[in-house]
Amino acid sequence: MPTINEILHTMDYGPAPESTKEAQAWLDQHGRRFGLFIDNAWTGANDTFATTNPADGVELAQVTQATPDDVDRAVEAARRAQPGWVALGGHGRAKIMYAIARLLQKHARLFAVLETLDNGKTIRETRDADLPLSARHFYHHAGWAQLQSEEFADYRAVGVVGQIVPWNFPVLMLAWKIAPALAAGNTVVFKPAEYTPLTALLFAQICLQAGVPPGVVNIVTGDGRVGEAIVNHPGIDKIAFTGSTEVGRIIRKSTAGSGKKLSLELGGKSPFIVFDDADLDAAVEGLVDSIWFNQGQVCCAGSRLLVQESVYDRFIAKVKNRMQNLRVGSPLDKSNDIGALVDPVQQQRIHGLVEAARAEGCEIWQPGCAAPAAGSWYLPTLITGASTSAAVAQTEIFGPVLVAMSFRTPGEAVQLANNTVYGLAACVWSESISLALDVAPQIKAGVVWINTANQFDAACGFGGYKESGFGREGGKEGMYEYLTPLSEDARPGAPVVAEKGQVRQAEGASPFAVDRTAKLYIGGKQVRPDGAYSRAIGGADGAFLADVGEGNRKDIRNAVEAAHKAAGWAKASAHNRAQVLYYIAENLAIRAEEFAARLSAMTGVRDPQREVAASIERLFYWAAWADKYDGQAHQPPMHGITVALNEPVGVIGVICPNENPLLGFISLVAPALALGNRVVAVPSEAHPLAATDLYQVLDTSDLPGGALNIVTGSADELARTLATHGDVDALWRHDGTAQGCAEVERLSSETLKRTWVGGGKGRDWFDPKQACGRTLLQHASQVKNVWIPYGV
Ligand code: NAI
Repeated sequence: MPTINEILHTMDYGPAPESTKEAQAWLDQHGRRFGLFIDNAWTGANDTFATTNPADGVELAQVTQATPDDVDRAVEAARRAQPGWVALGGHGRAKIMYAIARLLQKHARLFAVLETLDNGKTIRETRDADLPLSARHFYHHAGWAQLQSEEFADYRAVGVVGQIVPWNFPVLMLAWKIAPALAAGNTVVFKPAEYTPLTALLFAQICLQAGVPPGVVNIVTGDGRVGEAIVNHPGIDKIAFTGSTEVGRIIRKSTAGSGKKLSLELGGKSPFIVFDDADLDAAVEGLVDSIWFNQGQVCCAGSRLLVQESVYDRFIAKVKNRMQNLRVGSPLDKSNDIGALVDPVQQQRIHGLVEAARAEGCEIWQPGCAAPAAGSWYLPTLITGASTSAAVAQTEIFGPVLVAMSFRTPGEAVQLANNTVYGLAACVWSESISLALDVAPQIKAGVVWINTANQFDAACGFGGYKESGFGREGGKEGMYEYLTPLSEDARPGAPVVAEKGQVRQAEGASPFAVDRTAKLYIGGKQVRPDGAYSRAIGGADGAFLADVGEGNRKDIRNAVEAAHKAAGWAKASAHNRAQVLYYIAENLAIRAEEFAARLSAMTGVRDPQREVAASIERLFYWAAWADKYDGQAHQPPMHGITVALNEPVGVIGVICPNENPLLGFISLVAPALALGNRVVAVPSEAHPLAATDLYQVLDTSDLPGGALNIVTGSADELARTLATHGDVDALWRHDGTAQGCAEVERLSSETLKRTWVGGGKGRDWFDPKQACGRTLLQHASQVKNVWIPYGV
């Protein structure tokens, strides 16, 4: 023990251990053996495995590895409970969720200590961040339950939801998942991570106390095999997953074609950008929150430090100085900053990545402190001298390891920031509002923090771009992930697939006539297909109408390249995009008779004028929306505002339906264009001529070349190329083939692009309920939440 005199000299912290008495008593009450929580009852503890305290390696309890039968029972209970949960009404659910929030607050300390024991993260964080935010989630979402009938009148709950979470924020992830699901009227089968199941089991007890009806919340524990059983269970309507990109891919693949709704919150390698005019001391504190919060085991951790060259040395010196002061030690000590890693497996993984960087010549720097001998620990680490392509600069390390690099210009900072397959979050530090707000929109990430870091709130959406996944958690956009538009239920069950049939040569017509061969439309120009093949298109009576180009892989690649070059379309003002759509409508109207005749010849439809008129109206409809789908300004309980912006997704591939070939094409392409996306469209395979006739309309409508590209040919083949293309951000398939839709979902798993498929169900393109509305706007956009200092 140091003397008082010595303490006054060193001004060191004294030990401030948090008591574990209540948490240990709770574990003892359960005999340190836990079954599963199904239908509001505990099963016996079978086939158990240990969960340990990673700070000292001591076993805390034995937990059950659920079997597929257990998952069956949990899904059945959830299914049985779901209608009753909906029938409780918004207010009924709100009251119960409010009770959960209250109970979480009441037992916050018990939760915080248990979380720290099971996970190794510091009590400072579980007490001050994880628990308050978890309670806030239930409060906020109790509000959405209350307002559901007003705010989501055209939606219903999805049904039974399977939720799988990782170990880095066990109870907070639980709240992020369960609160919106319950608010919307879903019931839940929830699986915590195998390393950290205890707070989820304590939460089960809260559910009982709050009066959650049996079957509404079911908690099954175990490893990835239990996750798999949930993902593949036919009784589950939606999967919500947070975890590694690798498992996200597996889940995307195995749910392909199942019709299950899916949201994936995956990995990241987020940039932390410091400009030379930043408040450097504040930025250092932000960096501590960004990369050393939770030992860096945070999906949005600012693990790539990008500093402007002129202040690089000064900033790095400040960072090292601050790192020396980080206190590493028992997570239960209230004055410690850095706790233990979740498991020795993670320690070894981090060690391997850092040592590989050392072997490659990087400089590895750690503060002079020592980590405790027992348990799994890793000291805060700074890596310099890594190349931009080095593994440590590209791989998600998921530990307290920061990789630093310098840049010269804002342009270079943006380029480096976006040089990653991920797109979860970014921090921008600058005292210049113009610079910060110029850089934020250029960063491809779902969250951008300006002069702050790692802020979260239930009212603000969180989620990624690119391989960081899709879907949002929190805010109104998070609620939509747990809702299904009522119009989906109105869709007919069977696809309306046009007969292809044999094309009969019309008398006197030659398939070689030049004016009868429609080319492809790429980069604003009509181009011959790469393969120099064409296919004959017949009319309703089987007679030959025209040839269209047989697009192939190369044509799609050219079209995607042209779409990327047309980036100006995304930057054009919404007013400007609306004008172009109105202009297309006007030019289509001028040639309405011609299009009607074409539709009639192709499909034999009796009243083709109706389809042309509806297409013109649809263009007006999406032109109207172009400048009205505004974002929101959230006011989270912090010093700042969060601006939720609807950004275009990027380049969208669209496989258009066969039924109503003009209206179907316009109904999908127009909303994508309206919101600033660039499109590679594959028109109806059976009846592509209405789309190829549009080339001249487009040419005279001021649409910039490359904003819309049209490739005719085999829908299956072209869809495959689009699904696997790394530079296509989303793929929509609505030509009514269930198999084709499943294939698109499966193939898209590699690039984790967003998909929107018809799933083999037809859509009445005339019905605004099925073909218009918010759902399309949501598919055509992704929300970026920009946190901005305000009133500080
Ligand atoms: P993980 O992705 O394997 O585990 C997350 C959850 O998914 C756990 O509940 C696990 O049991 C479950 N799971 C595993 N395999 C599954 C499957 N085939 N089907 C359904 N569920 C399955 O992550 P893990 O192994 O714990 O960590 C490995 C690495 O993943 C970390 O080092 C880190 O790089 C990354 N990671 C990223 C997270 C993020 O939020 N971005 C969270 C956790 C891990």
